[in-house]
Amino acid sequence: MLGKNLTDLLKIDFPIIMAPMFLVSNEAMLKAGMQAGIMATFPTLNYRKEGELNILLKTLAAYKTQNITGSYGVNLIVQKSNPLYVKHLKTCVENKVPFYITSLGSPKEVIEAAHAYGAKVFCDVTNIEHAQKCYSLNCDGFIAVGQGAGGHAGPNPLQVLVPALKANFPDKPIVAAGGITSGAGLLSVQILGAAGVSIGTRFIASIEAGVNQPYKDAIVNSHMDDIVMTTKLSGTPCTIINTPQAQKMGYTQNWFERVMSNSPQTKKWFKMFIQVNGMKKLEQSVLPNNYKTLWCAGKSVELIDSIIPCADIIAQIKTEYKQKLEELKA
Ligand SMILES: Cc1cc2nc3c(=O)[nH]c(=O)nc-3n(C[C@H](O)[C@H](O)[C@H](O)COP(=O)(O)O)c2cc1C
Repeated sequence: MLGKNLTDLLKIDFPIIMAPMFLVSNEAMLKAGMQAGIMATFPTLNYRKEGELNILLKTLAAYKTQNITGSYGVNLIVQKSNPLYVKHLKTCVENKVPFYITSLGSPKEVIEAAHAYGAKVFCDVTNIEHAQKCYSLNCDGFIAVGQGAGGHAGPNPLQVLVPALKANFPDKPIVAAGGITSGAGLLSVQILGAAGVSIGTRFIASIEAGVNQPYKDAIVNSHMDDIVMTTKLSGTPCTIINTPQAQKMGYTQNWFERVMSNSPQTKKWFKMFIQVNGMKKLEQSVLPNNYKTLWCAGKSVELIDSIIPCADIIAQIKTEYKQKLEELKA
């Protein structure tokens, strides 16, 4: 099977990662993904209350022992501005989490801590320069985050990023992220040199996703041109649906915000302030009975037309993948 290097490395059945999604990923989605034989991941920042992360990790470890062909992993934002990073890494290591995805900073500590007990670490990368740093720190693979991905999308198309990573780091598996919703999408990036895919936006429109109905409906009803980038939420460009509230908030930081974000004296604290504020704004938009509409999503909304269980989403991708592979062979 194509992608066997990835499935063997991560000890899963099928080369899909259910991508970590702030405020969206939850226990029900993770269990559905594990049950379906894929790698199900979540951002540790979804579990900010004392003790919550530890409880979930114990639940997932126990679930994995029950005849499950998939696995689970965490996403750590390894930036200094993430106040919970050190604490969360410690909890993950204590619970021997099998898989990590790092984003937005140096993965050094995570790689060292994870490798000490045999866990694997893939790093989110959007260009060769950052990939080189992760490679020199001995990461196990890359998540190539391309244009149009949900969240902190990269500036480069997957058709360039994936083959470029493959050419520069032929010994590391590459997982393509951004715009994938189908078996055809998976096969297309495998032809480019990826071992598998990381899928986020498609899973927001799932029965299990922990967000309100208007957000799920917006995923189904939006089109690719409704997705815009803003630096207002985290300081880093992030994709959102261009709702009236998003238009009101704006897309770029003002002069003052840029100065504070770049000055060595204020950088760390100001970024933390922006991110905490951004989190609060997003959080208000995912809760039930709320009328706020700041919704993060990628360009793949164009291709999503149903809200169905995670198991069905994965089954559809697997079926279409096999069909497309047969068509290609024929
Ligand atoms: C709502 C949402 C929240 C996200 N939150 C995170 C996050 O907390 N950490 C992270 O590394 N990536 C995050 N991402 C990015 C995803 O992990 C993944 O790279 C992306 O969704 C893949 O592109 P796709 O949405 O087109 O499938 C998020 C994406 C979405 C849509």
